[in-house]
Amino acid sequence: MCTPLCYHLSEDGVVRFMWNQIYCGDCENILKIFPENSIDLIVTSPPYADQRVKTYGGVSPDDYVDWFLPKSAEFLRVLKPTGTFILNIKEKAVNGERHTYVLELILALRKQGNHVW
Ligand SMILES: C[S@@+](CC[C@H](N)C(=O)[O-])C[C@H]1O[C@@H](n2cnc3c(N)ncnc32)[C@H](O)[C@@H]1O
Repeated sequence: MCTPLCYHLSEDGVVRFMWNQIYCGDCENILKIFPENSIDLIVTSPPYADQRVKTYGGVSPDDYVDWFLPKSAEFLRVLKPTGTFILNIKEKAVNGERHTYVLELILALRKQGNHVW
């Protein structure tokens, strides 16, 4: 069951989050309510390029990096310096050849400031 965004403004004016909740929505919008350096772990399994287009709308491999970087920018902002970001992603063949969108994403994530293992 999804719970609406649960946080409250305490007397000292600080936003306090109700942890251990499930927030449903676009991760780019949801993450905006979280303070920077507040999260220990992010695990994500985004839609793979051009997979399940009818279900997830589909992101073409050529547009994938541009689609993902605004999301990873938020991941980077909310993650603690000691935090971990785990990405589950799968490569794709296009016209019988490996498309390089995953490799391009790794390089772009590193350029964005992520430590990539
Ligand atoms: C590959 S599936 C993940 C499947 C899931 N890990 C599982 O085991 O059932 C990708 C999911 O990302 C969700 N998604 C796509 N764009 C998103 C976004 N901007 N913010 C949050 N979720 C998104 C899709 O709705 C879909 O449920």
